[in-house]
Amino acid sequence: MTPTRRTVLKSLLAAPPVIVCTGSASHVWSQVSELPPTPSCDGGSEQTPQQTAGPFYSPNSPRRSDLTEDAGSQPRFSLLGFVLDTRCRAIPGATVEIWHADEQGEYDNSGYRWRAHQFTDDSGRWGFDTIKTRHYSFRTPHYHIQVQAPGRELLTTQLYFPDHPRNGTDRLFDPRLVMAVSDQGRTGRFDFVLPVE
Ligand SMILES: [Fe+2]
Repeated sequence: MTPTRRTVLKSLLAAPPVIVCTGSASHVWSQVSELPPTPSCDGGSEQTPQQTAGPFYSPNSPRRSDLTEDAGSQPRFSLLGFVLDTRCRAIPGATVEIWHADEQGEYDNSGYRWRAHQFTDDSGRWGFDTIKTRHYSFRTPHYHIQVQAPGRELLTTQLYFPDHPRNGTDRLFDPRLVMAVSDQGRTGRFDFVLPVE
């Protein structure tokens, strides 16, 4: 039987994560390298839903995958996955940008803490080492993300934790944007699907 994207993801998440010193620049990329070179897919895939960028986006974020240099004792969290087209083909060279609140629910609006961008590798993989973000105001915890395939339209969206008690009271929460969390709550996986044929 040909494995579907869902079964491949399931087996990946069931596999024990590679243990690397948390906070090192290579932490998330050691996990990214565990992702298969090409995700399996048995049909068309739904595009990732758009969401608002909110009021806290700052342009010109630094290019990096490790955001933890100012993390102190804040709990670490890594995000990773693929950028794919609607036929589940990997998109290399796509820009992936992240920005989020810290563990107090605060954004750094004068500097670039908890802000970064990078490009997907030759297999369409992306990953960031950062901290666990916190809720603020009416918002359940979320990571803001922008993804853009070379020369294509920008996708602005947000990623959420599964089963967070505040998800049910945040009118912006979308269950289609929930990460698959593994590694004892320290890693979130999400594959972005762009409207590219
Ligand atoms: Fe936000």
